[in-house]
Amino acid sequence: MFEHQPTARWSAVEDFLSAVVVRADNSLKRALTTALEAGMPPIEVAPNAGKLLKLLVQLSGARRVLEIGTLAGFSTIWMAQGLPDGGRLLSCEYLPEHARVARANVDAAGLGHLVEIRTGRALETLRGLADEDVEPFDFVFIDADKENNPHYLDWAIRLGRPGTAIVMDNMVWEGAVLDPALDPVTARGILSALHMLGQDPRLDGTVIQTVGTKGWDGFALARVL
Ligand code: SAH
Ligand code: DHB
Ligand code: MG
Repeated sequence: MFEHQPTARWSAVEDFLSAVVVRADNSLKRALTTALEAGMPPIEVAPNAGKLLKLLVQLSGARRVLEIGTLAGFSTIWMAQGLPDGGRLLSCEYLPEHARVARANVDAAGLGHLVEIRTGRALETLRGLADEDVEPFDFVFIDADKENNPHYLDWAIRLGRPGTAIVMDNMVWEGAVLDPALDPVTARGILSALHMLGQDPRLDGTVIQTVGTKGWDGFALARVL
């Protein structure tokens, strides 16, 4: 998946756009370097997509953000930077080592008081949140194991409220949505989530195809009805 295409013009264009428009700060750069040093795969959102997440958090007026899939906290920091005073972000991460690196990155960004990272399988964390009867989330970003995307979408609705915004990454997966044999388990999860976006009466959504430094993929945006 996502073979690097060094000659692709759209990759250079995206670097140019991010350099001119986005300007990631030092805390975001730190998240990228610590991720590489820790041997994590470079699968965080691109800087322009991270900035989009921040702007969507701000434009939606979200105070409570739920993230599924933390990695080193790159997208976490972007979204937390969009929160108002008193806002909260809860991020779910399976691997303790990822959570540890992300925690340090979020703290170094001065956002530690806004962010909680829960380690473990996200499906269990989400069930736990429902049991705790937590306040509804205003904004949910889904970016973990793609085979669970339909379950994550269902939890996002249940832990949200009418008007909650949901963003989901990796909706095209190098075209595997039309050619599931390329990556059957992942494609099935993504396809099932796409059908939910189109048909679930609790949702209204769209998907934008993306090309850039992260290859050929897609970003979904939905609103809970
Ligand atoms: N959102 C991050 C990237 C996340 S990469 C960013 O843009 O910066 C996907 C992450 O999901 C990885 O850290 C992986 O360990 C985690 N993950 C995979 N399966 C998971 C599961 N079942 N529950 C929680 N996290 C999971
Ligand atoms: C992978 C996961 C992601 O969330 C992503 O954006 C790209 C790749 C992966 O697991 O390979
Ligand atoms: Mg992703």
